Amino acid sequence: MSLPPLLGTEADRVGNSVDALFKGILEVPGDRRDTLYEAMRHAAIGGGKRMRPLLTVAAARLFNVPDARAIRAGTAIEAIHVYSLIHDDLPCMDDDDLRRGKPTVHKAFDECTAVLAGDSLYALAFELAANPKTHDSDHVRAELCLALAKASGPNGMAGGQMMDLVAGAEKDALDLGAITRLQQLKTGAMIEVSVEAACILGQIRPDQRTPYHGYARNVGLAFQIADDLLDHSGDEDKAGKRLQKDADAGKATFVSLMGEDKAREQARMLVDQAIEHLDKHGEEADLLRAIARYAVERDR
Ligand code: IPE
Ligand code: IPE
Ligand code: MG
Ligand code: MG
Ligand code: MG
Repeated sequence: MSLPPLLGTEADRVGNSVDALFKGILEVPGDRRDTLYEAMRHAAIGGGKRMRPLLTVAAARLFNVPDARAIRAGTAIEAIHVYSLIHDDLPCMDDDDLRRGKPTVHKAFDECTAVLAGDSLYALAFELAANPKTHDSDHVRAELCLALAKASGPNGMAGGQMMDLVAGAEKDALDLGAITRLQQLKTGAMIEVSVEAACILGQIRPDQRTPYHGYARNVGLAFQIADDLLDHSGDEDKAGKRLQKDADAGKATFVSLMGEDKAREQARMLVDQAIEHLDKHGEEADLLRAIARYAVERDR
């Protein structure tokens, strides 16, 4: 699927900025840690849709946050996301050999290196967020770090990954409420913090953030339903990762529960709801609207 012009241009620009930042902080040191840095570069540079930094940049635009700050916060979030993908692909988790069209880190290197590359990207995310270049206010940087920690820990991504593994192992038939909770933690929390980061950098009062939380929550759920639809009926070459794995692994998804058509309908409904949350905004929110649509209509 070709991207609408606004989204295509912004996705390229954000992708290049994220790459440039990763290249700068991941220079290979020329000592016994070289393999670790090479593995981090393999995973972090030059791949992926960069949806999370794109969301941060798009939301930051509503609050007049300088782009460079939004890129730094978005790259911190992307670093956590890349770490989560490296670990998600390990043999002890989803056991995958292809990611972003390349061998997974444990295939290109080895499992120990993959674990350490994930750990290191996770730590680097907090270094990026806490650096004064991200914001001159100590309070803002602390709030950003707190939000990243919450979104990625047991009450966010890692907790959702645990629920996903347990449900798969026990061939547990989850109901709609349980799947929604699982997906909100596993994927939704990191999507939500991508928008929240912009609110934090823009020093938006917490009681003014409700529509942005609503938008991000709906996009996050729709995004994971789209991932599950891709697994069910997508094209591996386009997705750059192995597909048709969830059903065999007994994963509980919207597709396994309600079937492909209903799941797609549900995802589109969530996107409509997401866009409604932006009603009070004019064209400055067009990028956020385009991202929401792309979250479900994507083919990778
Ligand atoms: C894949 O995320 C894993 C999920 C959380 C659904 P993305 O679909 O954003 O993967 P990349 O970053 O584009 O590779
Ligand atoms: C992984 O979900 C979500 C993460 C937190 C990394 P999936 O296991 O469905 O992601 P893919 O399909 O491997 O990208
Ligand atoms: Mg997984
Ligand atoms: Mg996986
Ligand atoms: Mg998947």
